[in-house]
Amino acid sequence: MIKLKKIQKAYKAEDDWIPVLKDIDLTVEQGDFLAIMGPSGSGKSTLLNLIGFVDKAYRGDYLLDGEKVMSKGDQDLSQLRNERVGFVFQQFNLIETLTVAENVELPLLYAGWTQKETKVRVSELLTKLGIGDKEDKYPKQLSGGQQQRAAIARAIINEPDFILADEPTGALDTRTSEDIMHVFQQLNIEGVTIVLVTHDPSTVDYCNRVVHMQDGLLTEEVN
Ligand SMILES: Nc1ncnc2c1ncn2[C@@H]1O[C@H](COP(=O)(O)OP(=O)(O)OP(=O)(O)O)[C@@H](O)[C@H]1O
Ligand SMILES: [Mg+2]
Repeated sequence: MIKLKKIQKAYKAEDDWIPVLKDIDLTVEQGDFLAIMGPSGSGKSTLLNLIGFVDKAYRGDYLLDGEKVMSKGDQDLSQLRNERVGFVFQQFNLIETLTVAENVELPLLYAGWTQKETKVRVSELLTKLGIGDKEDKYPKQLSGGQQQRAAIARAIINEPDFILADEPTGALDTRTSEDIMHVFQQLNIEGVTIVLVTHDPSTVDYCNRVVHMQDGLLTEEVN
């Protein structure tokens, strides 16, 4: 469903353009659990943002279900982002002044739901993710693992087709990382496609494919 063909991207520095993605070919199928590994600065987050319709400044073709993403307007891209993608980050990126439930319901409110309609759905999802009792707490009152569960809830409340996770276990201890990987594993079993950027080899065991980013190029591990 995601097909990248000869994707190139460069950042401008002073008078130069610094190439970051040089010639990326990548296909992600529905149901994949893909790990992207590679050294710091190799372009993993850049690639993830591009896949998540955050970044339109690239060359080459990005086909989503066979349609060119590049030809879509900003409004269509925002809509795609809201409906089809859930982002999860290393630092959780929850809004500190909102409760857990308020954080999680935000994507639904953006999608046009009323506050009344969101309540049950948010509660059910938080319960499913094991933090049903934290609804009315603020992010700071939760452990790192609980905050990441809340962030995952926010990412999937709209039932996206795919989750883009940028080092989601990077700030967590080993035990909590495993818990979070189990959450992703369960979602993947339920059919959600997952693209995971990770430095941690133990998280790769959960994935069905691994690609390595190096010098702007991707190579896939064949197993
Ligand atoms: N907005 C930007 N403007 C200019 N250069 C950028 C910008 N974003 C990233 N870069 C550069 O592009 C390269 C790739 O950055 P990116 O954040 O994608 O790497 P990464 O693989 O995610 O690294 P890390 O593992 O440290 O998160 C780096 O050299 C970075 O300095
Ligand atoms: Mg990064």
